Amino acid sequence: MNPIKTKNGTYDFLNYGVSLHPFKKDNMSFLKEIQRRRTFGIISHPDAGKTTLTEKLLLFGGAIQEAGAVKSNKIKKGATSDFMEIERQRGISVATSVLAFEYKGIKINILDTPGHKDFAEDTYRTLTAVDSVIVVIDVAKGVEEQTEKLVEVCRMRNIPMIVFINKLDREGKDAFDLLDEVEQKLGLTVCPLSFPIGMGYDFKGIYNIWENNINLFSGDGRKNIEETIEISDLQSEELVKLIGNNPANILRENLELVEGIYPQFDKQAYLKGNLQPIFFGSALNNFGVRELLDCFIEIAPKPRPKQSEERLINPDEKSFSGFVFKIHANMDPNHRDRLAFVKIVSGKFERNKPYLHVRNNKKMKFSSPNAFFAEKKEIVDVSYPGDIVGLHDTGNFKIGDTLTEGEAINYRGIPSFSPEHFRYINNADPLKSKQLYKGIDQLMDEGVAQLFTLQLNGRKVIGTVGALQYEVIQYRLEHEYGAKCSYENLNVHKACWIEAEDEKSEEYQDFLRVKQRFLAKDKQNQLVFLADSPFSLQMTQQKYPSIKFHFTSEFK
Ligand code: G4P
Repeated sequence: MNPIKTKNGTYDFLNYGVSLHPFKKDNMSFLKEIQRRRTFGIISHPDAGKTTLTEKLLLFGGAIQEAGAVKSNKIKKGATSDFMEIERQRGISVATSVLAFEYKGIKINILDTPGHKDFAEDTYRTLTAVDSVIVVIDVAKGVEEQTEKLVEVCRMRNIPMIVFINKLDREGKDAFDLLDEVEQKLGLTVCPLSFPIGMGYDFKGIYNIWENNINLFSGDGRKNIEETIEISDLQSEELVKLIGNNPANILRENLELVEGIYPQFDKQAYLKGNLQPIFFGSALNNFGVRELLDCFIEIAPKPRPKQSEERLINPDEKSFSGFVFKIHANMDPNHRDRLAFVKIVSGKFERNKPYLHVRNNKKMKFSSPNAFFAEKKEIVDVSYPGDIVGLHDTGNFKIGDTLTEGEAINYRGIPSFSPEHFRYINNADPLKSKQLYKGIDQLMDEGVAQLFTLQLNGRKVIGTVGALQYEVIQYRLEHEYGAKCSYENLNVHKACWIEAEDEKSEEYQDFLRVKQRFLAKDKQNQLVFLADSPFSLQMTQQKYPSIKFHFTSEFK
């Protein structure tokens, strides 16, 4: 049997394994497993339709049978002091951390990202584990604040993005105005791969530029009815018969404009993060979702190489490596174990095989690693690059830790951003100080918040993205560790990570002396300047020009 020759003239060895040596055969299936994985995240401002879209994607994959099965991980409005709500949310976010399903032979892993802005840091970290993202935008609201922040992070990392403009069944902004907004506010280079015909009450359907067909919207509420009609000639009478004379003329004009204004789709540009395809649809009505998914599996990147501090690691390398991007505490306070989510970067991950925990320089074996399928998790024997495994952990892992088969490499790319809120944390029960420090330590490892220790007096400061975290910490310290804490306000505008050109220079020594009151160490022992106002930050920057003030912990 000969290997199959593919369209571009190369040989498809992946479908050819019958008479190969067992090792080669094994290697072939390993490569094939990598090639068929797509790991991505859906990001949006709350309420744009992320949960609804996720659910429809799972329905396509046959992973769930009915709508309503995927629980929203958002925190209900006004729930700030409702701890049951926080626990409910935590429960859901364990269940929806990774949603995996198969579609047309492709294994799709959706990594869940919390929409609530107080949990933005969690989303930033999850974005280090995705190979691409889908951005959901509400057609009426356009680009919203959370979307701007998250897309900025994706842009910085050149993550390939597809934009889905949702809720076309409702009145919204004009499609061209929206495309302008996406370009200007998000700084993207858009390339529409579908285009709406009407909107809201007049919504007739979508012209699918990618597949050259029309998808007619039957408009009967929540039923999932759509009809796809191939269109070979836009000038044809058939088009008029389908959607009417006026809409047909408008569509022709719009498509001409699209062709004139926007660049043609270029897969390489998309993969490099330089071009973003746009789709329109209505997730709730299951409209335009199949088109999005079909295009996604064709263009979205398979697991990508990842930079470690030492070298670039390719997914098809034989030796296993991966990194922890999320840690989830057990919901049951009697079992202190946690689940560490590891993204597999290279090689095969195997159950019960000893792996090196690089930071601790310790070998570890995992007897019950979890794999994720839809909303279930199961014990798994083997996982491949692109997959996420959940490892039970009794406190060995921190976010950002690397696991390997033996090589001492460290993956980069889990930065901390400057928190927005800062408070002193005090021990409210002197008999439980051991429990308090252990609790703080573990919660920080999970990435709930950031801890800073003041240089001057050793006082501990908790920095968070949102005010909600303080209540979460207080609640969890009490319920999981039996410790009590109180907070005290602290006037800090921003935390800046300090980098000195020359640590022995007079300028740097002067900075350390004069600003001593504002200096702290983070958990990694890096020096941080806690600026109390934008003005004092600016003055300090001017006074010490050779010192760099970074707003994220990862700058080297
Ligand atoms: P999120 O995860 O991004 O926060 O959004 P989610 O999917 O929960 O959707 C937010 C609201 O928008 C939901 O309504 C949902 O039904 C609605 N929605 C999603 N997609 C569409 C769409 O294509 N068209 C229309 N008209 N609505 C859409 P809700 O009233 O907040 O919740 P529910 O009671 O319907 O569940």
